[in-house]
Order: sequence, then C-alpha cells, then structure tokens
Amino acid sequence: MLLNRRIIVGVCGGIASYKAIDLVSKLQQAGALVDVIITENAEEFVRPLTFATLSHRPVFGDLWEPSGEAAETHIALAENAELLVIVPATANTIARLAHGMADNMLTTVALATRAPVLIAPAMHSHMYTHPATQANLALLRERGVTVLEPAVGKLASGETGIGRLPDTATLLGAIQQVLGQHGDLAGRRVVISAGGTHEAIDPVRYVGNHSSGKMGYTLATEARDRGAHVILVSGPVALPVPYGVELCSVETALQMRDAVYHFITDADVLIMSAAVADFRPAQVAAHKIKKSGNEVTGQHEDGELAIHLVQNPDILAELAASLNGVAGSRPVPPLKRRLIRVGFAAETQNLVEHAQEKLRRKQLDLLVANDVSRDDSGFGTDTNKVLIFHADDAMEDLPVMPKTGVAAAIWDRVVPLLAV
Ligand code: CTP
Repeated sequence: MLLNRRIIVGVCGGIASYKAIDLVSKLQQAGALVDVIITENAEEFVRPLTFATLSHRPVFGDLWEPSGEAAETHIALAENAELLVIVPATANTIARLAHGMADNMLTTVALATRAPVLIAPAMHSHMYTHPATQANLALLRERGVTVLEPAVGKLASGETGIGRLPDTATLLGAIQQVLGQHGDLAGRRVVISAGGTHEAIDPVRYVGNHSSGKMGYTLATEARDRGAHVILVSGPVALPVPYGVELCSVETALQMRDAVYHFITDADVLIMSAAVADFRPAQVAAHKIKKSGNEVTGQHEDGELAIHLVQNPDILAELAASLNGVAGSRPVPPLKRRLIRVGFAAETQNLVEHAQEKLRRKQLDLLVANDVSRDDSGFGTDTNKVLIFHADDAMEDLPVMPKTGVAAAIWDRVVPLLAV
C-alpha cells in the first residue's frame, strides 16, 4: 500500500517532534518515498541529519537557500506529493495553515500542494482546547484537511490530558486511510466478522477455538485502505483494532449473529471470516464448577464431567434461508441493497468437496477455503494457502501468500461483483 507512495512529512517544533523520526523510519521501511520538511523550531528538538539518514533523501528546511533552488523546490515538492502529513502539528503551524500563511517551507508547500493534507496536532491540552486552536482546526476540516485527534495521556508538563501525539501505528493507519480514500471500495460499507467465539461454561471457562482473528483484521485493514467504511464484528482476540475501523466486540455466536444482522442492513459486503462455534453449553453455570460437583453438574465422583452442548445458529445459512423467504426462517431486517456474501471454510480433509457444499448450502458469492492442518495456513499463521470458489463453480488455487496478499486477492474478486 505504501510502496513507492510519495509522502511529505512536515515536522513542527514540539516535544513530540522526536516521534516523527519513528514514523519516517517506518514509512521508509514500507517502501514509501518520504520527503521531510522540518521547521526552524523543530530543529531545536531534532536534527535534519536524522531524517535524511532514515529517509535516504535530502531534508528541506530553509525556503531561502542562497542557491535560489528552494524557490523551485517547494513547487516541485508540492506537485509531486500524494500526501502531506504534518507530525506533530503545533498550534502555531495550525494557525498559519488556517490563515493561508506561507512564511516557511512547510506552510508554503501546504499552500501550493493539491494533495490531501493530514495533520496530527500535539500540544498541551490548554493550547489544544483553546477556542483559537479549535476554530483554526474547524476551518481546516471544512477545507478538507484530515485532523487526527490527539490522544489523552501524560503530557510533557507532567499533567494528564488531551494533546499527546497518537502512536506510530495510528499515524500509519491514518496515512493509509487517507491515501486510499478514493480506492475501489470508496463509498462502500463492509461488515467483516473475525476471531473465534467464546461459549461460556461457567463464569471462568468457555468452549473456544484457535482462531487468532488475523485474517479478518487483515481483510478489514485492506478494505479501509481501499476507501471502505469497515465494521469489524470481532470475537475476543489479542490484536490491535486497525485505525479507522468501527469495532463491534462480541463474545458468543448468538451475539455475533445479532451484531451481523444489525450491521448488514445498509452494507454492500459481508465477509464471515470468524470461526463461529457450532455448539454452546446448554446451560451456563452461575458459579464456578467445582471439582467436587455442584447443583448444575451434580456430583462427578467418577472423575468425569459431561457438558451438554446445543447447536448454535449458522449465521450464513440462516441468512440465505431468510433472504429466500424460507418458511420458519429467522427474519432478517430489510436490506437496503444487494449484499455480497463471502464465507470461509476451515477444513482438515476433503477440502474441495466440503467447500463446494458450503458455497451452495450457504448461497455465497465467494468461498475462501483453507486447509488448517498445514503449517503455512490457517490459525495463528501470518501466511495462508487458499482456494477461492466462485458461485459459478469456478475454482482458483492461490499460492501460499502473506495474509495481506490473501486479503487483497479476496477484495480484488469482490470489487467486480459490486459492479453487477
Ligand atoms: N459460519 C456461520 N455460522 C456458524 C458457523 C459458521 O456463519 N454457526 C460461517 C463461518 O464464518 C464461515 C462459514 O460459515 O464463513 C463456514 O464455516 P465452517 O466452520 O468452515 O463450516 P460450518 O458451516 O460450521 O460446517 P462444519 O462445521 O461442518 O465444517
């Protein structure tokens, strides 16, 4: 996504200036072509040499270089850029931008560029919440500038409040979202389920599975980077929520069904990558089940404990039945538009037969199948080896790829279906 993208990082002078170093380093590692513009005040905190070394490109500072080249440079920089990101943006630079001033290299480039502008304000909370700063930010937002809300936490002054620069992962997420805002999923709403569900046995134990949620979270990030509004219905996982994605956390299959039904009413795509538990304990013990037995389980003196399981609803199958008006099926709220439905199949044997059967039974547009018994595929891995089955019986056998590549391949196949 960031490979060969031309990004200008403007660095203003604040205590958070040093965090721009990490951002530039990460952007460069991701293959972006980063031009850094540093203000005179920023040079009090960080050195141009640091940025030049990390970006492998010259750093721009003074608008009035004796060579006179800078006068041309700022226009060339402004015209070539695909994005101008200002990290950190100080109250002073925000005020200058709001009033169209062009008194240093950064503000001049900001005025000259037609690329999208993203700013990450960072300052003491009194300066951030001051009506002057808020009015300037409102003006910039009105003009199409994307303003990243600062984080709340410990400030340089030692106090706690709003004004911290968000972490590098958040900055990178925001950059990718802005770069992808006009992508091939722009204006689309997509719902993605991810992770496994937990079905409670008692207050401390559950029936679960090995799903890490990585595939679903990667699909969500990829959709965001192509301009979609993403709703991630996630079971309990240990992954950070991608910036810009709307999260709906659920625990059980029944909660996941309710959330999916709620969000699909105005969605264009539903991808069910979650490993939904097919069964749940018939009864959830109100108190921790003791080894010695209790009123729910009875005495288990023989050293055994039997948990009676009942079947969970099959979310995709129920949805298909409901959309077909099958008598007795659980009604779905009316859908505003045609919903592209994509399922996953995690198999350990007879993959092709099981996948084809699931595609038909759940009436899917696409089914992505993987053999979870392979080392390079399935739960917890960073790579996946999948087969993609289409509604017209076509089958594609994809090579082992990072999950990011699999996510891109899936969206590449969903996009043409949206145009039908
Ligand atoms: N799925 C679902 N609701 C369930 C179980 C699964 O919507 N209760 C969805 C999954 O999210 C996935 C697809 O159906 O997209 C296939 O899931 P999988 O677990 O492979 O298959 P099952 O239908 O559960 O069939 P089986 O357990 O017999 O393999």
